[in-house]
Amino acid sequence: MKSCIFGYTKQGAPVTAYTLTNTQGAECVLLDYGCTVQALKVPDEKNAFIDVVLGYDSVSEYEEHDGYFGAAIGRMANRVGASVFTLGGKSYPLAANDGVNHLHGGIKGFDKYIWTAEPSGNNTLRFSRVSPDGEEGYPGTLFVSVSYTLTDENALVIRYDADTDADTVISLTNHSYFNLNGSGSALNHILQIFADRFTENDAACLPTGKFLDVAGGPFDFAAPKALGRDIDENDEQLACGHGYDHNYVLSGAEGLKKAAVLFSPDSGIRLTVSTTLPGMQLYSANWLSPRKGKLGAQISPRGAVCLETQLFPNALACPDFPSPILRAGEHYHSETVYQFEIGSEN
Ligand code: BGC
Repeated sequence: MKSCIFGYTKQGAPVTAYTLTNTQGAECVLLDYGCTVQALKVPDEKNAFIDVVLGYDSVSEYEEHDGYFGAAIGRMANRVGASVFTLGGKSYPLAANDGVNHLHGGIKGFDKYIWTAEPSGNNTLRFSRVSPDGEEGYPGTLFVSVSYTLTDENALVIRYDADTDADTVISLTNHSYFNLNGSGSALNHILQIFADRFTENDAACLPTGKFLDVAGGPFDFAAPKALGRDIDENDEQLACGHGYDHNYVLSGAEGLKKAAVLFSPDSGIRLTVSTTLPGMQLYSANWLSPRKGKLGAQISPRGAVCLETQLFPNALACPDFPSPILRAGEHYHSETVYQFEIGSEN
């Protein structure tokens, strides 16, 4: 594994880039700042290597822009309604950084810390940090790690582990923006999601606690279809997210199961996402403001898609959602696999 200084934060702290390479020549560049997947180069059907994630060339761009590019998100992925939750009869106020709601762990979430990195064998890099009691308003000292493995079969495996010394809440994800052509629109990507239902959003993209069936409507990706096919349909749920920004309720039993398949007919690259988690946020990058990214690449709204495996957002206020509570003495573990292949849409 190679490593080099990627740059320095505004406070002058060094940020290191680590490169995992496999026997097929695929490459994953990881930053200790936010456990960020800065680059992920995989072969296309012509055996040219394409960087399939959006990102930046400098630390300052990661610090200044709020897209959470490639980062680990915590303690709570996505939204906590009204920026408050109750646990053990006590109310915990959190920062309101998305209107009245709390988004992606708050003002200084896991994406904005430098983590401790250590190689842990098998082409694996493990990042860890101790999130102190009270950080961003969350209770309990959290000992958390995120491990990335690049397999020789071109899969990026992400393992999340956490322990706490007091009851707390946790839902971790990775916020990579995928474009299987490297740049341009993602609306021609063919997407399949293994889910019959998704969670209804209010106008601020906060789940209401209700489940909606995907069948027949614009949210139906049960059979593969282009991401952009129905995205501009006149639909109340699409209108509130300005496109897709919704949590899918994944079908399939506990354990590692297929969540989604994303395919680009242009590059021939197929990404299969599998996870142990019950939900996945489909975010069609609706709010990306146009700007330049890595090597001057144009970043545009809907120029990528996020497939964020997760517990359901706003779960603490929705009794029918799986619980994000982690009690002292319990261990949190989840796994998500991003498998890249050359193939067809299914
Ligand atoms: C959320 C979006 C949000 C985006 C921020 C997604 O996970 O669901 O609503 O705008 O992250 O980059």
